[in-house]
Amino acid sequence: VHTPQVQRTSYHFQPLKNWMNDPNGPMFYKGIYHFFYQHNPNGAVFNSKMVWAHSISYDLINWVHLNHALEPTDPFDINGCWSGSVSFLPENKPRILYTGIDSSSQQVQNLAIPANYSDPFLEKWRKFSQNPIIAPPDGLERNRFRDPTTAWQGPDGEWRVAIGGQTSYGGAAMLYRSEDFVRWHQFRFPLYSSQDSGTWECPDFYPVMLNGTNGIGFSSGFGVGVKYVMKASFNSSDHYTLGSYVPEKEKFTSDYGPGFDFKGINLGLRYDYGKFYASKTFYDSSQKRRILWGWVNESDSRQDDINKGWSGLQAIPRKIWLSKTGRQLIQWPVKEIKMLRRNHFSLHHKELRGRSTMEVLGGSASQVDVEVSFELPYLEEAESVDTRWGVLDPQVLCSKRDASVNGRVGPFGLLVLASNDLSEHTAIYFHILKAHNRYVVLMCSDQSRSSFRKEVDKTAHGAFVDIDPCYKKISLRTLVDHSIVESFGGKGKTCITSRVYPTLAVNNNARLYAFNNGTQTVVISSLKAWNMSNAEIK
Ligand code: FRU
Repeated sequence: VHTPQVQRTSYHFQPLKNWMNDPNGPMFYKGIYHFFYQHNPNGAVFNSKMVWAHSISYDLINWVHLNHALEPTDPFDINGCWSGSVSFLPENKPRILYTGIDSSSQQVQNLAIPANYSDPFLEKWRKFSQNPIIAPPDGLERNRFRDPTTAWQGPDGEWRVAIGGQTSYGGAAMLYRSEDFVRWHQFRFPLYSSQDSGTWECPDFYPVMLNGTNGIGFSSGFGVGVKYVMKASFNSSDHYTLGSYVPEKEKFTSDYGPGFDFKGINLGLRYDYGKFYASKTFYDSSQKRRILWGWVNESDSRQDDINKGWSGLQAIPRKIWLSKTGRQLIQWPVKEIKMLRRNHFSLHHKELRGRSTMEVLGGSASQVDVEVSFELPYLEEAESVDTRWGVLDPQVLCSKRDASVNGRVGPFGLLVLASNDLSEHTAIYFHILKAHNRYVVLMCSDQSRSSFRKEVDKTAHGAFVDIDPCYKKISLRTLVDHSIVESFGGKGKTCITSRVYPTLAVNNNARLYAFNNGTQTVVISSLKAWNMSNAEIK
């Protein structure tokens, strides 16, 4: 019998019930992390009359839900308080900029101010009396103008903010400037745009350091020692590119040419190649790091969501920084997640022969954190793939070569949320291939056997990992929490999040295995796994 309760997570952020989507206005203020999110308090499905729900934490793992920060109450947001961001004005004064759906269903931008700065919980927010402060500009569709970013100040002291939208050219981040944070003027050109995408949602724009893993905010200056990240949400995923930004010219330029489609180089950079959308970063001044929040939606049906009474998760917050190569971002679950680890299991230097599986941790693996690194002594045996049709699409490769298809060097990896007889499992694996006379590392999350339920979406997710396999090592970290599987390949270079709804592999009956479905032996140089205890979210 299918019992929906078993799919509720134990250490991922969730409201007590009902619908959740985008992360909004994350910030660190007076020793406390604040998290707001798009929430329908009246049901488990999307409804445009969104509120900004509000929760606080001291550690990003355990949370207390507070009252809603913003609810649709005024003509400028009566049909919904949609996504937005927090910016800090001088003297550590946070401001919310958010999209209101007004009484004529236009998307306008509004300002909200803490009612009481000495309350570290910031429980009450006052909507600015002169809202809306930005109306949709001429030439832009009035229902495609939303999701203001965190604002930044240029060297001239003026504020800038980018807002998602669509021009006749394509998806864009519209740029506005203001001297006082109240009167905003549209700049002639968008901050960035792309020809081949629809409406951009939830743009994000921020600096990253060229060296090291620390984060920075805009206030540390422009240009020297930094690169800029431009991210936009469209086509069900979060796309980003890296480049330079000249505030005087109000222009972001990607290192890879216009838009997000770097033709021929790869199929574009994404935060996550599974389910992860409408994400937002913030600079955590307490630990000098940048943190990424992202919404992970369900893969079951609308009726399933109504039955279980909730829908939507947030991924575990990730620290995010620029890789040493400067070509991509690296993501890693915040270190605080380690506080939930129990029952350490570890093994070292173990051969995983061709076509074998090996159980790890022993039973009860519905809440797990596992880190494994593989060595590839027989790399040279990797099979070649046909590249006659040009660029390889990793998602197609993963669907064709699912975890059960025998290869040579791979597929090898983990089987998570696996039933005793392995009839149900989710496989996260690597497959080393030879293409264009070099090795490529394919990373896949295969949901095809994740559940006996037929009505859930089991589409495979896939991506390449940009490492040199000649080095003969590849690592994988996976966080499992009942119905979510978050995987980090190559030390955070490639991330894939998936949603699964097992019927047998639940609670104490879920198991964890390492597997190798290639013909060639791979070596587990190290494997560490932990059961995860519950986070307190109340
Ligand atoms: C993205 C999004 C945003 C919008 C919000 C409404 O998921 O569509 O563009 O502000 O959700 O909840």
